[in-house]
Amino acid sequence: MKILKTIEDLKRERQTWTGTVGFVPTMGYLHEGHLSLVERSLQDNDDTVVSVFVNPTQFAAGEDLDRYPRDLERDGRLLAEMGVTALFLPDNREVYPEGFSTFVVVEKLSDVLCGRSRPTHFRGVTTVVLKLFQLVRPDRAYFGQKDAQQAIIIKRMIRDLHLPVRLVVLPIVRDQDGLALSSRNEYLSKKERASALCLPRALSGARFMISEGVDDASRVVERIDKELKREEGVVVDYIAVVDLKRLEPLQTVLADNTLVAAAIRVGNTRLIDNFILGEI
Ligand code: PAJ
Repeated sequence: MKILKTIEDLKRERQTWTGTVGFVPTMGYLHEGHLSLVERSLQDNDDTVVSVFVNPTQFAAGEDLDRYPRDLERDGRLLAEMGVTALFLPDNREVYPEGFSTFVVVEKLSDVLCGRSRPTHFRGVTTVVLKLFQLVRPDRAYFGQKDAQQAIIIKRMIRDLHLPVRLVVLPIVRDQDGLALSSRNEYLSKKERASALCLPRALSGARFMISEGVDDASRVVERIDKELKREEGVVVDYIAVVDLKRLEPLQTVLADNTLVAAAIRVGNTRLIDNFILGEI
């Protein structure tokens, strides 16, 4: 596996990949969720590129940029063992040179759900992902449903800007106890982790309720809210039942076009989870 630290290195290598290229952008500290994307890219493409870059523009002041978990050595070893062609590891200067002042914003979709409590987050995500797409020029890019809003926003950006890349969205990988894998789970104490299980529990309860025929969105929200509020030390950020295209609130759950998503705080850690009816 080639380790590429500069844009120049990446551009040079890119010219040697003549078949299809799959791309998995990450912020590192890789877990099975990330690796499921890599695995699929390896199956689908001649070459696979993974980036590890903790992107400062998607963190607001006071968020966890400085303590975001990192283990580059392990990440590199895992990816090399899997047969990844190249690991792109740019530093901040490489991605955001002195005087950088251009951002890409997907309007409306970036303002709701997670965007409400993190108003500059998605503009950081779309800006860095567009930059990475320009450099890697992948045929396919792999994202997790874990960050459903992110995937929906990237999908819209690809469409709106006519980007020549196919988005592949893959299911949420969970731990045995049901908690969605996340690099941020690392922050949780044992007690907090036990509390955090209210999130997958509430969502699977809601999913069951819907499967039993309940389609009133407010009842679904109520049920999730009740379950989350029963847990001590958990603060609800949002609970949303929205359509998968516009992320607008639904009154009635649609069998093929619904995102049910929630975000909570457990101590200082913000966690998200969701399920969808339909396809991103
Ligand atoms: P990061 O949080 O490292 O996630 C990288 C990719 O892995 C994202 O597409 C995310 O949805 C996916 N992923 C994370 N946890 C997952 C899980 N449990 N199951 C399946 N997929 C999972 O998302 C980012 O980084 C950044 O915003 C990035 C796109 C790299 C831009 O900086």
